[in-house]
Amino acid sequence: MTPDRHQMYNNNPFKLGLFGANCSSGRAINKLPERWLADWESCEAMAKLADDIGFDFILPIGRWKGYGGPTNFQGVTYETVTWATGLLAHTRRLTVFGTVHAPLFNPMVAAKQMVTADHVGRGRFALNIVVGWNEPEFQMSGIPQRDHGDRYDYAEEWITAIKRMWSQHEPFDFDAEFLHLRGVVSEPKPRGGTAPFIMNAGQSAVGKSFSLRHCNGFFTSFREHDVKKSAEFVGAYKAEARSIGREIDVYTQGHVVCRPTRREAEDYFHYFTTEGADFEAVEETLRLKDITRANTPDYEARRKAIPLMNIGYPIVGSPDDVAEKLARIHGAGITGIGFSLVNYLTELPFLGQELMPRLAKAGLRAPA
Ligand SMILES: Cc1cc2nc3c(=O)[nH]c(=O)nc-3n(C[C@H](O)[C@H](O)[C@H](O)COP(=O)(O)O)c2cc1C
Repeated sequence: MTPDRHQMYNNNPFKLGLFGANCSSGRAINKLPERWLADWESCEAMAKLADDIGFDFILPIGRWKGYGGPTNFQGVTYETVTWATGLLAHTRRLTVFGTVHAPLFNPMVAAKQMVTADHVGRGRFALNIVVGWNEPEFQMSGIPQRDHGDRYDYAEEWITAIKRMWSQHEPFDFDAEFLHLRGVVSEPKPRGGTAPFIMNAGQSAVGKSFSLRHCNGFFTSFREHDVKKSAEFVGAYKAEARSIGREIDVYTQGHVVCRPTRREAEDYFHYFTTEGADFEAVEETLRLKDITRANTPDYEARRKAIPLMNIGYPIVGSPDDVAEKLARIHGAGITGIGFSLVNYLTELPFLGQELMPRLAKAGLRAPA
């Protein structure tokens, strides 16, 4: 446990983060003129603004290849540890994650990259471990993708070795099924002698079990229509962690559209998930999961659903509506949310002015 790790353990009852801003179009498969281009100047300005407004974290996506279509959805992406390092140099309070594909990063190199980011940020770097799923990304790297279960077995060795590199001063050998490392040393250690906050979003049984044993935070989906079920899951997951002597926080993810009126927000949401969506890129996301017109009778329905599904839980409405929805998530015992926006920079000031005071009033945020 690393309870002194800055914003992930601050006194805001409900943590707020921005998710996906290192990728062009963020998480909304859209072709609107104002879509997010993820250029460095915009990323830097977004991070500074989010820091000033009081956001707790920024979480990037580990993505290596775009989805085609007129916008080549997520075709422009920054590598996340170097992206985080740059943003940490330009901010003062918030935590910035790297989203690291364990199979693609040699652990000796990754351990030091992350420590470098952590020192630049004075202890504000955090790690989101992913094991990968997207075959074309692995083909591009020349590294074969393992079977699903083996991916987490490998990640387990990877993070165990890295935690030792982060804590142990004496040279050590590491011998396991996949990794055979000799005479390992790694200096300096992470800032303050504490390991960075570690997150995982595996949804399978092996993914959840991995998080339970190795991570400080876990991503789950929020069930809007069954808050009780969400709360039960969170309670049971935390209890399971405690039964093995660990504490874990449960986070969720979504997409916010916040406008002066509910009508404006709903119209905009409808537009960018229908007419404004990049359906060629949508078809590529389906093809990657082997879903085609030829093999799927309800292909058209699925095609229409992807722009909605891809952004996670939609939080759409006036500032009062959005505050209320976030309060419902908090009420389920969820520690925080990482959400995306169509344009992370231009939409932030309104959230700072209208949403943040409402969240403070609702008890979700510590008084400024
Ligand atoms: C909030 C969230 C963030 C994720 N970020 C990434 C990512 O950046 N890159 C990636 O390849 N997979 C990402 N994933 C996929 C998960 O790491 C995981 O592979 C997926 O949820 C399937 O679970 P499983 O691996 O247990 O089958 C993310 C999932 C969620 C819910």
